[in-house]
Amino acid sequence: MTPLYEGKAKRLFATDHPNELLMEFKDSATAFNGAKKAEFENKGRFNKALTVLLYRALEARGVPTHFVREAGDVALIVKKVDIIPIELVVRNVVAGSLAKRLGRPEGVRLSGPLIELYYKDDALGDPMINDEHVRELALATPEEVVRLKAFGLRVNDLLTEIFSGAGLMLVDFKLEFGRLASDPATVVLADEISPDTCRLWDAQTGEKMDKDRFRRDLGGVMESYAEVLRRLEKELTSGESPSASASLSLS
Ligand code: TMP
Ligand code: ASP
Repeated sequence: MTPLYEGKAKRLFATDHPNELLMEFKDSATAFNGAKKAEFENKGRFNKALTVLLYRALEARGVPTHFVREAGDVALIVKKVDIIPIELVVRNVVAGSLAKRLGRPEGVRLSGPLIELYYKDDALGDPMINDEHVRELALATPEEVVRLKAFGLRVNDLLTEIFSGAGLMLVDFKLEFGRLASDPATVVLADEISPDTCRLWDAQTGEKMDKDRFRRDLGGVMESYAEVLRRLEKELTSGESPSASASLSLS
């Protein structure tokens, strides 16, 4: 079957349902806008499983996502969306490109969550933009930008708490959003949430547990992804989730 779209880490396929797509996670890893590439056995499986756990947890806490259901080991059925070409990065701790841009050491906690917007355009290397560039390029309405930022802060609060319960510090992460094909006024979280799109440091040791292990040639990339999955499964499937407690109190 030919994908409708093939990106660096995922493929999208049509389904029998006009408003649903199949999103398949690949084993490929890229960094620096595709300049560095590698294949990691099981990466697709880990990132799919992590995205499902996190999307279910976010949905249970009132955050709408494009997730519909699982479709095997490496794929999900997702709602068809028109992706808003803005990558929203939320940062809690100085790391990565922020450390370089501001000349601050990695690991310094920011005074509060810091939001950045990037123009999702591979040919341009995803440049950082601000609200005025968004307006000029008509990437989203001003109301949508306000909504995306509020979404980002809410997701940051929720993910910070979830990862903290799993002994992980959420340093920063990237979100993408889409307008539902069935209802373009509704914006939902799209793409994936995984160690490819989040910086996660072990809360005790500070060890990097995310794609920086690949970007920086630290080794043990899949061992870290597997450990993040193990901890999140324990955190999100053993304890009482809001939906579990809601159904308990109803029964
Ligand atoms: P950065 O420090 O390289 O700008 O990355 C910030 C966060 O965004 C980090 O958690 C990794 C994530 N990210 C992506 O998901 N995709 C990308 O293309 C880039 C550059 C970063
Ligand atoms: N995802 C981007 C790339 O493929 C960059 C990154 O995550 O570092 O190249």
